[in-house]
Amino acid sequence: MKNHKEYNFKYTEISTITELSTEEQNLVNQSLEALKTSYSPYSKFKVGAAALLENGEVILGSNQENGAYPSGLCAERVALFYAGAKYPGVPVKCLAVSACFEGEQTKSPVSPCGACRQVMIETQHIGKKPMRIILTGSEKSIVIENSAFLLPFNFVNTDKIFE
Ligand code: THU
Repeated sequence: MKNHKEYNFKYTEISTITELSTEEQNLVNQSLEALKTSYSPYSKFKVGAAALLENGEVILGSNQENGAYPSGLCAERVALFYAGAKYPGVPVKCLAVSACFEGEQTKSPVSPCGACRQVMIETQHIGKKPMRIILTGSEKSIVIENSAFLLPFNFVNTDKIFE
């Protein structure tokens, strides 16, 4: 038996964050605030992340680079791992990510790397609730309802992947 299958997902594109709820606009603004703590002397590309937890707490992260390049960590993972360390098991409702290069916010939404997508999915899996992802840019942002959409065939539970 041979089956041709397709994978696709829906996401929402917005031109201004004022189209988000007040809570989510605040979260985006906090991800922009987090840019200030980025340590990125090598790439000069600042990334900020803000995670809204179900208990109402907001955890911020920013990219932290290192002279031994692979030792650095992206903003998303700094925020999600800190959230896990501070509030283990508390679902992350929403993660907002922003970036800035040469003093200006990127026009396009910042797109998380594969490793961060994997960590988002596992964080969502632990919390047992969909995690909304807001990727922001000054001219365009996108909202994804479930972090798993960002990584097809992800590794969380091998038996479930190919159901
Ligand atoms: N980076 C993030 O922090 N998040 C992303 O989504 C993309 C990339 C960081 C890693 C590195 O410090 C810098 O941005 C340039 O790649």
